[in-house]
Amino acid sequence: MLDLQAVSKHFGGVRAVDGVDLTVARGQILGLIGPNGSGKSTIVNLICGLFPLTSGRIVYNGADIADLPPHARVTMGIARTFQNIRLFGQLTVWQNLWVAQNSSEQRKQNFLKRWLGGSRSAREEIDRTLEFFDLAHKRDELAGNLAFGEQRRLEFARALSAKPALLLLDEPAAGMNAEEIDQLDGRIRRMRQDGITVLLIEHHVELVMSVADRIAVLNFGQKIAEGTPAAVQANPVVREAYLGTAAAA
Ligand SMILES: Nc1ncnc2c1ncn2[C@@H]1O[C@H](COP(=O)(O)OP(=O)(O)O)[C@@H](O)[C@H]1O
Ligand SMILES: [Mg+2]
Repeated sequence: MLDLQAVSKHFGGVRAVDGVDLTVARGQILGLIGPNGSGKSTIVNLICGLFPLTSGRIVYNGADIADLPPHARVTMGIARTFQNIRLFGQLTVWQNLWVAQNSSEQRKQNFLKRWLGGSRSAREEIDRTLEFFDLAHKRDELAGNLAFGEQRRLEFARALSAKPALLLLDEPAAGMNAEEIDQLDGRIRRMRQDGITVLLIEHHVELVMSVADRIAVLNFGQKIAEGTPAAVQANPVVREAYLGTAAAA
């Protein structure tokens, strides 16, 4: 579904991403792990089109999307969450989802009809999403007033409201407690059941090992390993690069 081919991104002299090949198969969860600064978020930013590639190709459903602007990629079904939460703090929880739901092109065309109440389904869909993320009781709260864990769930709900085919999750478990991570685990599995393809960047290795079908490992902008969770966990190169620095962190 998504194919990164020899993708590089240099910031001045920093080779944030350096010749990475990465394939995300349709319907699968690909975990992307690596020490801080290894280029994980940069890869997500490149897939979303936040900044241009230095070199390489990003092929999505058979087409090179590397030159398309971010909104065009959203329209094609690519959605993301941010490592640093980005919500509309002055909008309510419900309104945040409403905005996200209307971000895809086909939905934009139906916006007026839907807004005028021609169909209740859009509103019901938001209500269902709020239930799924245990946020129904917060629907009229301003997003900026939510607790941290709730904001993370809303960020996730917002990405899902765009009805993505491919969802990029950038450290969704950051700052979560064990119970919240457990619930996140369940929600990610449920999304795969619903046919959504997921690229999961995560520092909580246990979570990635639990849900990912395959895992790729970055170090200093390069892919140093890829395989099943068990194979990656047993790989001595990974243990040295990743677990070595994680222990120091
Ligand atoms: N917008 C940017 N401008 C300059 N350097 C950046 C930018 N974004 C990331 N970097 C650098 O690229 C490297 C990889 O960063 P990042 O992709 O955020 O790593 P990770 O998400 O794996 O922690 C780091 O050295 C970081 O400082
Ligand atoms: Mg990051």
